[in-house]
Amino acid sequence: MDLSINGQPRPLPEGATEPDMPLLWVLRDVLGMTGTKFGCGVSACGACTVHVDGKAVRSCVVPLSAAVGKSVRTIEALGTPGEPHVLQKAWIAHQVSQCGYCQSGMLMAAAALIEKNSNPSDADIDAAITNICRCGTYPRVREAIKTAARELRGAIPDGKTRPERLKAFRSCPLITSKDPCSSLQMLARAMAAL
Ligand code: FES
Ligand code: FES
Repeated sequence: MDLSINGQPRPLPEGATEPDMPLLWVLRDVLGMTGTKFGCGVSACGACTVHVDGKAVRSCVVPLSAAVGKSVRTIEALGTPGEPHVLQKAWIAHQVSQCGYCQSGMLMAAAALIEKNSNPSDADIDAAITNICRCGTYPRVREAIKTAARELRGAIPDGKTRPERLKAFRSCPLITSKDPCSSLQMLARAMAAL
């Protein structure tokens, strides 16, 4: 029996798995991929969230038989220390993680969300991210998701894209003004003199 995990075929040892074994057990106990966490075991907490064919699922209640032939993605493939995923960068910027136990599941749920919706509202986030965090990181999770989504779509906080923002900045009267007393002209001269 083979699984496709993070783009690689992962043969499973003969006799070491049953079709109804939870995918979480296969990942952690059979394959030693411990980034995905065990929390409740009954689909209540989200600590075990992975993607199956691009959809966030709770792997503690997904039987192995339901994952065979599909594409499984785990936290191990979300990013690397050298090339973090846009969400991981936002997680660091917003200092989201506290004890960290729920965070791989949170990140996988968030990744599934922004890959489908690059401009999620608070309501979208609350509906999609039902993972439990006993450290109460929910406000930071929400802000980090919005930051990551903005970066993903190349937008800035007011909703404009970077080129639109640059164009607006360059055409700003304070920038184009010949008035030597305009505050930005004064600032530019002061900086040039440093
Ligand atoms: S361990 Fe799967 S939802 Fe809690
Ligand atoms: S960061 Fe501790 S449980 Fe979420």
